[in-house]
Amino acid sequence: MRHLVTLSDLTSVEIERIFAITEDLKTKYERGLREPLLPGRVMALIFEKQSLRTRVSFEAGMIHLGGGAMFLGEDVGFGKRESMSDFGRVLGELVDVVVVRAKRHQTVVDLAAHCTCPVINGLTDYAHPCQAMADLYTLRETFRSLEGRKLAWIGDGNNVARSLALGCGKVGMEFALAAPDGYEFDAPFLEKLRREVPDFNLVVTRDPAEAVAGACAVYTDVWTSMGQEAEMEQRQKAFAAFQVNAELMAKAPDDAVFMHCLPARRGEEVTDEVIDSQASVVVRQAGNRMHAQKGILAWLLGSQP
Ligand code: CP
Ligand code: NVA
Repeated sequence: MRHLVTLSDLTSVEIERIFAITEDLKTKYERGLREPLLPGRVMALIFEKQSLRTRVSFEAGMIHLGGGAMFLGEDVGFGKRESMSDFGRVLGELVDVVVVRAKRHQTVVDLAAHCTCPVINGLTDYAHPCQAMADLYTLRETFRSLEGRKLAWIGDGNNVARSLALGCGKVGMEFALAAPDGYEFDAPFLEKLRREVPDFNLVVTRDPAEAVAGACAVYTDVWTSMGQEAEMEQRQKAFAAFQVNAELMAKAPDDAVFMHCLPARRGEEVTDEVIDSQASVVVRQAGNRMHAQKGILAWLLGSQP
């Protein structure tokens, strides 16, 4: 039994296997076929923060696969009514997989430690592995091969950036992070990247133009993530020079795509002009959340190779 708490839980070979399943399921879906690989399987979703993409894509994907999804609201008392150990062990008796979005990463780690069925991280303050899987799948779809290509991350070294960096390392991509002072990856995470991907081509810079040079994708996320609202003003000042606008996109190669995990704060981290441009793949990227997660579910709950 496996969990997906961070991308450290998947090897490069497993990531490619999940992409192959994703590609097969998406091709069939586009032909109108929803292959029921998981009939009768039940997914529970627990969300401590708001979500459009993660919740809907998991629920819809599980229905396509022939299973069922139930969104557990406040009434289950997650983290409040009983110990995590009792909650996890009981939930594992009742459902086949749990998707959890938590305020604190440790909550997902603790649930996975006790739950007797696979636990999938649907975002924490530390990581967003399902987002990174969909993002890399989107790039694989766009450019075919990923190895040796460069992704430029402009902005906060946050949950999405961490997962994407680890994912890029695992698929042989270069990752360039352009962030203001104090918002880069912390030392323990850099150490983890070095340990897990010893030959990772990782660049950390204060210069967005340096990051986007030669990149096949320019990626940004909100300057203020969920839970950081009290820091918004300070962050708006710190990130002012890190907006992805037409001027910055012009410094990337002509065929570079613009990516964003969404939701976006238009006019802050990205201009309307860029997010609505031909180069922007944000809507297909969001749609791929569903396809990539179907791949993850089919792999986790099926017979893993
Ligand atoms: N990108 C993403 O996870 O979106 P939601 O917060 O809407 O799930
Ligand atoms: N970094 C953002 C991502 C939202 C999908 C947040 O955590 O709010």
